[in-house]
Amino acid sequence: MASEVVSAAYSARSEEYTSLFGSMESTHAADRELVRSWAQGLHGRVIDAGCGPGQWANFLHSLGIEVEGVDLVSEFVATAQQRHPEVPFRVESLERLQTPDQSLAGILAWYSVIHTPPDDIGAVLSEFVRCIEPGGSLLLGFFEGKAVEAFPHAVTPAYFWPVGEMAARLLNAGLTVVSTHSRTDPGSRPHAAIVARRKEP
Ligand SMILES: C[S@@+](CC[C@H](N)C(=O)[O-])C[C@H]1O[C@@H](n2cnc3c(N)ncnc32)[C@H](O)[C@@H]1O
Repeated sequence: MASEVVSAAYSARSEEYTSLFGSMESTHAADRELVRSWAQGLHGRVIDAGCGPGQWANFLHSLGIEVEGVDLVSEFVATAQQRHPEVPFRVESLERLQTPDQSLAGILAWYSVIHTPPDDIGAVLSEFVRCIEPGGSLLLGFFEGKAVEAFPHAVTPAYFWPVGEMAARLLNAGLTVVSTHSRTDPGSRPHAAIVARRKEP
């Protein structure tokens, strides 16, 4: 199963990942600003879905957001909990969030669906939509590319997505795209983010 491969790959490299990417200093100022402005429009609980070492969940907590971090990898959850004791973290799969229907103001999925096979991403987005209240919001970060295609990410294979193709998947899942953000930094793969809102009934 794809998620077991992803989990084993990150388990084996969780310390390395944490030392390279586990702090807000390793994040881009434009991303911090996007997450900050997104969060300031939310009223209610938020999940950092695929939180890794928990730096974004802690960032949201520092903004006064009621946030919980979830990740498939127990090493990440333990590290996140130890580094950020005021934020709750738990081991959980994006495919099956232990969250009641329509109970969240928002989900941050920052580079956490990059390893999800294209045939499976609809199910993950639908699970997000199940948990988000009508009018609530999803912020998705991912690698942008000209086509949906796999590439050899350092941890385990990941996928490039054209923004338009990801936006179509979000629409199919029941979300409306609010804004898109693209950037290519020197020496980095192209980055994209989409803010989407769950449609009102
Ligand atoms: C590239 S890392 C991003 C981590 C964190 N969001 C960040 O920005 O540093 C991808 C994360 O998604 C998690 N992940 C991938 N697939 C998952 C799944 N199906 N369920 C839960 N977590 C998953 C991985 O364990 C990993 O922590």
